Amino acid sequence: MSYFALVPAAGSGFRMGGSLPKQYLPLAGRPLIYHALAALAAVPAIERVFVVLAPDDNEWARHDWTPLSGRIEVLRCGGETRAASVTNGLRAMRQMSVAVGPEDWLLVHDAARACLTADHVTVLIRAVGDDPVGGILAVPLADTLKQGGDATDGNARIVATIPRERLWQAQTPQMFRHGMLLGALEFAPAVTDEASAIEALGLTPKLVASDMTNFKVTYPLDLQLAELILRQREKEA
Ligand code: CTP
Ligand code: MG
Repeated sequence: MSYFALVPAAGSGFRMGGSLPKQYLPLAGRPLIYHALAALAAVPAIERVFVVLAPDDNEWARHDWTPLSGRIEVLRCGGETRAASVTNGLRAMRQMSVAVGPEDWLLVHDAARACLTADHVTVLIRAVGDDPVGGILAVPLADTLKQGGDATDGNARIVATIPRERLWQAQTPQMFRHGMLLGALEFAPAVTDEASAIEALGLTPKLVASDMTNFKVTYPLDLQLAELILRQREKEA
């Protein structure tokens, strides 16, 4: 039984704005996606890190990935949705030089979670252990949740309060066995994360406590926050 990582990076970064997909925006001296790939590649237990690009991606080739050579493998099979990109990646990796079997563990991680560390990954791998289902990194919700009503004028009003008890924010990596995950995504293709597909099978993935530094870079301000975190780590190293 081996561990592999799969990083979907075929999105367009619509909420970030701009013409360059956010995974290639400059962040702490590298393209944004480099940081997540480097964190995963730094975990000795992970045999190979697969990256799923859009078939028409012409940005990847413009950057230098030599520090990660031998650790990463590119798959040009991204789909219309994140779930489609992951599903295509899972299928493609069965035909690669390093054979991936149905019982092998897959850690699926968003390219956009640039502040992931090897420690985050190790915590997840240890906590999931040989669990029959798998698990994900997540953070217990700190804020009270408010449901807003119709906001035709841009100013919504509160229509309901959702108690935060037992609510978690899902992050990635999300760790499941290759065969089970592919089966789950074929059964439930319209999901926004891997755990939802596994849940649709009636299974209950583990929640493994993470922290907010592993946030997803989505809006322009997030880029500045990620830059601060990564530069601070450089100073401390
Ligand atoms: N992703 C993907 N294929 C898609 C859509 C998204 O591989 N068709 C990837 C993104 O590249 C990203 C991850 O899934 O690494 C998480 O998605 P998200 O943060 O939503 O990125 P985008 O979809 O690119 O951003 P947006 O939703 O703002 O367009
Ligand atoms: Mg998206």
